[in-house]
Amino acid sequence: MKCLGIETTAHTFGAGVSTEKKILSNELSMYKTERGGMLPREAADHHYQNAWRIINNALKNAKTSPSELDCIGFSQGPGMGAPLRIGAAIARYLSLKHKKPLIGVNHCIAHLVIGKLLKAKDPVMLYVSGANTQVIALDEGRYRIFGETLDNGVGNMLDAFARSAGIGFPGGPVIEKLALKGKKYVKLPYTVKGMDISVGGLLTNLKQKLGKHKLEDLCHSLQETLFSMLVEVSERAMAHCNKKNLLLTGGVAANKRLQEMCKKMCRARNARLFAPPTSLARDNGAMIAYTALLMHKKGHCTRIEDSQIRPRWRTDQVKTIITI
Ligand code: ATP
Ligand code: FE2
Repeated sequence: MKCLGIETTAHTFGAGVSTEKKILSNELSMYKTERGGMLPREAADHHYQNAWRIINNALKNAKTSPSELDCIGFSQGPGMGAPLRIGAAIARYLSLKHKKPLIGVNHCIAHLVIGKLLKAKDPVMLYVSGANTQVIALDEGRYRIFGETLDNGVGNMLDAFARSAGIGFPGGPVIEKLALKGKKYVKLPYTVKGMDISVGGLLTNLKQKLGKHKLEDLCHSLQETLFSMLVEVSERAMAHCNKKNLLLTGGVAANKRLQEMCKKMCRARNARLFAPPTSLARDNGAMIAYTALLMHKKGHCTRIEDSQIRPRWRTDQVKTIITI
């Protein structure tokens, strides 16, 4: 069976084709800026302009025609209204035109379900992206949030710092590069409350330090502080739930230093770290296709009249259909 998945919750227009076992294609175009942040209207325009090229490439690379598809999946939420609407409209159109079932997918759940491809069994999940930062584990058939950020998502915080430093969007990858050249650790606020974290104080403090320290040192110190907070809450959840696997997912999971720190913690606890390749950890269409197909196989379908976007759809509001 094959599914086409469409992703448009924020900056990325993604389209991918997947079977139950394998990703066949994963194409994307990302809205970026040199200096300022992301404007939802501009992101939506970007998606509209790139949609058909990306979808056609995804089908071509998967050697699949629309008639061979079993269903069409799309990110129904959470995310930004304007970009979400583009993906939903295109998915409805394709579903009606080719008479294929439509499957509305929760974007956050898709970030987790991709761990199934890596055969990560019953892990604690550190889902760390732009808008979301959550420590999740399956408990009695539901994805439960054990800990989360009390204010901003880690990626958005990195992007906000990058905006202040004038190094463009997305900020995470540039900060990672600059951090490699940082030598001095500058002391920064470290805020962990049980299994929750807070990053607002850290961001304010960093902004105040801009221009007083080398940007490279600030980026290095930011990563060391912020990622230590993430590792601490993940380890606490693993100890509490007595789980032996950690799945690191979401756009920030691309960061090599974060991966290294998680690996070290897992090694010390005799546990295993699972980290998808960046192409599947960040926003992408293949994870939507994969999740939608598994949902379709379980008999799930989204009627056109129920396919309106859900910008504030939380992970723990989702009826669990696919467990990992
Ligand atoms: P969600 O809706 O799941 O929150 P998202 O819209 O934030 O998703 P993702 O692609 O999952 O999209 O994550 C994007 C974030 O990841 C951005 O904030 C970006 O700065 C951050 N990021 C990307 N690469 C890196 C990296 N190498 N190091 C740190 N952060 C990174
Ligand atoms: Fe995401």
